[in-house]
Amino acid sequence: MDGFDPSTSFSGEIAARYDDHLRGDEAETVAYLSALARGGPVLELAVGTGRIALPLAATGIRVDGIELSPDMIDRLRAKSGGPEIRVVHGDMSVDWAGDGYALIYLVFNTIFNLLTQEGQVRCFQNAARQLADDGAFVVEATVPNDFLALPGDQYVQAERVEADSVTLDVARFDRVTQILDESHVTLGPQGIRITPIATRYIWPSEMDLMARLAGLRLRERSAGWHGEAFDGRSARHVSVYGK
Ligand SMILES: C[S@@+](CC[C@H](N)C(=O)[O-])C[C@H]1O[C@@H](n2cnc3c(N)ncnc32)[C@H](O)[C@@H]1O
Repeated sequence: MDGFDPSTSFSGEIAARYDDHLRGDEAETVAYLSALARGGPVLELAVGTGRIALPLAATGIRVDGIELSPDMIDRLRAKSGGPEIRVVHGDMSVDWAGDGYALIYLVFNTIFNLLTQEGQVRCFQNAARQLADDGAFVVEATVPNDFLALPGDQYVQAERVEADSVTLDVARFDRVTQILDESHVTLGPQGIRITPIATRYIWPSEMDLMARLAGLRLRERSAGWHGEAFDGRSARHVSVYGK
């Protein structure tokens, strides 16, 4: 997407509004991760505003983070418990928080925020370097099968319809680069607000190869946080890799 800069895509108003509409899977994510953490320490790649890290840390586990957006880090630090989360400001595909982590996790489709195959491979390698020998690396992401059925490889969806404003989700998928160029467009009393995001979608099979390149193997895969069976119709996956 021309003019899109990943390093500023979660800044300013986006960071300020991030927690206004939570995803809703926080409790089940924390339950799943805390069971895998075996007492920690734990590292969240792209920790954001601490949506998962804060309730996970509240279970008594040490949680660290790596995060690209200073504004998201500020939001995290302003919350109760935020100052106790050690956050490295940097890129999860290259930057270092430490080693010997019992659990490293990357949720909410955020592996897709890295826009090249090379960057995504480096992210697996960076996770592997920081993981304890018996540690687990958890990736949770959508399976992008539906993009292959989009008429014209594009869509417009009504994301929010209110009395005085609408938000449209406008997107186009490139089958070669696997990049989805997307913009959330809000029309309302304040005028037009455009919130662009580009993401590189990968299927679980490509992810497993990235893990192999990083010296990791798939240990288990489910279709959700409750161990749901994963099959060809699953819309998302929770994958656990280890050395
Ligand atoms: C969808 S949010 C997820 C935040 C948090 N993990 C959660 O589940 O709420 C994506 C986050 O990834 C961060 N991010 C994007 N690219 C990154 C990178 N290369 N390294 C570290 N963080 C990154 C963004 O700044 C943003 O905070």
